Amino acid sequence: MSADVTDLTSGGLELSLSGSVATVTLTRPERRNAMTPSMWHGLALVGASIPDDIRVVVVRGRGPSFCAGIDLRMFSAEGVPGEQRNPSPSSPGFGDSIAGFQAGYMWLRNPAFVSIAAVQGHAIGAGFQLALSCDLRVLADDARLCMKEPALGLVPDLTGTKPLVDIVGLPRATELCLTARTVDAHEAAQLRLAELVVPRAELDGAVDDLVAALLSTDAAAARATKALLAVAPGNTLDQQAAAERAAQAALLRARQG
Ligand code: ACO
Repeated sequence: MSADVTDLTSGGLELSLSGSVATVTLTRPERRNAMTPSMWHGLALVGASIPDDIRVVVVRGRGPSFCAGIDLRMFSAEGVPGEQRNPSPSSPGFGDSIAGFQAGYMWLRNPAFVSIAAVQGHAIGAGFQLALSCDLRVLADDARLCMKEPALGLVPDLTGTKPLVDIVGLPRATELCLTARTVDAHEAAQLRLAELVVPRAELDGAVDDLVAALLSTDAAAARATKALLAVAPGNTLDQQAAAERAAQAALLRARQG
């Protein structure tokens, strides 16, 4: 699968590659980067076609907001022009349809690279889940995060519930989701939803600095370490110690050639 530029543009996305860094930009600022099935499928296409030598993926949104969530016109009788309608929830295709949308998020956990969400303004619902899908989040001081779905009669279903619970813990995730309240950048830092909060004007520079720091370590060691860290929460200490030994052996064997 390759990310055809036309598919991406019509889905409201841009992909740029520079050295070992890929930048994915949501490009519907006039709708605060509201998301549609075409955008989710475009994200999945990007994920499936990221070159092997990419080490960092930056996800950003053009304009004042990172992403205002699902395009609310999807819930109207008219829908969004040019977009497929969701299958009925009682049809067998409903789950597959959501799985297709989730594919736009799942790839950001790939150990081949580190993904960074650069978040300014609002990250709501599907947009908050996109930020949660990234390994790291850099927030501008005007960032506003909200899991809005329960307020709209929905559950969050774009792979955001697990990272939210992993990061903030079950009680706080419950409170955030079931009140659908908005978290500002200051609180996001306290809740570990942001690795870094910077003034709005410094967001790009802060992301560039983080990218440079991530690229300063050995590529193969970074990939193996990300994979190792990812399995740590589900492992006992003994299992994780064994995983460390196996990862080290595999890394050093590969280097011997
Ligand atoms: N879907 C469709 N259009 C949107 C969306 C959206 N989610 N968000 C913003 N827009 C449109 C607005 O309708 C407006 O269009 P218009 O210029 O034709 O009137 C334009 O984007 C700008 O929006 P404003 O509200 O004027 O921008 P502002 O910066 O004041 O507010 C905010 C931004 C807070 C994001 C606000 O637009 C908003 O609350 N949007 C809806 C958020 C939402 O409920 N998303 C769904 C979450 S649940 C889920 O994702 C599954």
